[in-house]
Amino acid sequence: MTTTPEPPTAGPAAPDAVTSARAASGAVQPTTAPVPSAGTPVRDLPRSRVFSGIQPSGLPHVGNYLGALANYIAMQESHDAIYCIVDYHALTSTHDGELIRRNTHEMALGLLALGLDPERAILFRQSDRPEHTELTWLLSSVVPVTWIERTPSFKEKRRYQPEDINHALLTYPVLQAADIAIYHARYVPVGKDQAAHLELAREIVRAWNARYGDYFIEAEAVFSDAPVVRGTDGVNKMSKSLGNVIDIFAEPDVIRRQVMSMVTDTQRILRTDPGRPEVCNVCQLHRFFSPLEYEAIWDGERTARTGCVDTKRLLADRIIETFAGARERRRELAERPGYVEEVLRAGAARLEPMARETIAVCHERMGLGPVER
Ligand code: AMP
Ligand code: TRP
Repeated sequence: MTTTPEPPTAGPAAPDAVTSARAASGAVQPTTAPVPSAGTPVRDLPRSRVFSGIQPSGLPHVGNYLGALANYIAMQESHDAIYCIVDYHALTSTHDGELIRRNTHEMALGLLALGLDPERAILFRQSDRPEHTELTWLLSSVVPVTWIERTPSFKEKRRYQPEDINHALLTYPVLQAADIAIYHARYVPVGKDQAAHLELAREIVRAWNARYGDYFIEAEAVFSDAPVVRGTDGVNKMSKSLGNVIDIFAEPDVIRRQVMSMVTDTQRILRTDPGRPEVCNVCQLHRFFSPLEYEAIWDGERTARTGCVDTKRLLADRIIETFAGARERRRELAERPGYVEEVLRAGAARLEPMARETIAVCHERMGLGPVER
């Protein structure tokens, strides 16, 4: 696990690296614990607080897991962890309300099944804490438009959805900065694709602090050992919108099909050609799913003792095996009516005092509200 350089002030060290999917999956706890009651205060350790957000894109994939979710789960043990399903963000590119609602539920279910434990971490839905949108407005007044226009994700989305360059798309990174700042989080576990957003979030709070006095923490990104997981095409980042994912919760035969479709080392044409594990995405994934034998697997590829098909079959088996427990737990949790909703509601309720406090301090410093307090 690596963090962005130059933390602004000394704080507790980030937790140990998540070195393999198996290690992480070993830490998965059954999530049948009771939901904590609303109003339970979050321990007041702002310097060690962790926050991250995930879009409600349905169920998580292997890229989400290795890039970010394994760290979500690891960090809930050692930090005050808050995780959010960012349905406000989803509005920037999805306009089917039913889909957003259903996908938010599915994502929450997936996270709980993977081991996010509502006894240890807070899980909530962004739109259940509307203070995030108010803080977005308050922060946006210190953000030069040029900062936002040059954000890589904005440029990318402008290319992907040229017919729908809505204003929320422009504000997207300010909302993300508000998500983190409202709870004074210090660490933000994310994949490398979020690095620019995190840097911008730091710049935004720095600008606010310079104008209104020190208050917000400049949060640090926390990357896993797999900060960019490539998709089945072997080239692009694994992403649902590119259709190159390996699912975590799909039926084993679907996972097997996805893995068998993976593009390997394109220079290895004949079975007898030596392979290059350093560039082969299947071999790279074995680092995480076969941590004890990946060197032997790589050696087999290099010497052409093994073929790509064998290596893929083994990877499919490993992925299916790694997430078998989570798949089972998802089935169990899905059968508990109201459970997910209860977790999300309780999470949002626990955060209310903190969110309100932050908004109150901003009002005070920014000159909103009555003369006499
Ligand atoms: P998203 O689904 O885009 O909200 O992503 C959720 C989290 O997973 C974010 O922290 C992303 O940076 C991370 N993530 C998504 N895709 C990948 C990938 N292919 N490799 C590494 N991390 C990823
Ligand atoms: N933009 C992030 C993504 O697409 C999701 C996100 C929203 C987020 N708010 C956040 C991530 C705050 C970290 C912290 O993955």
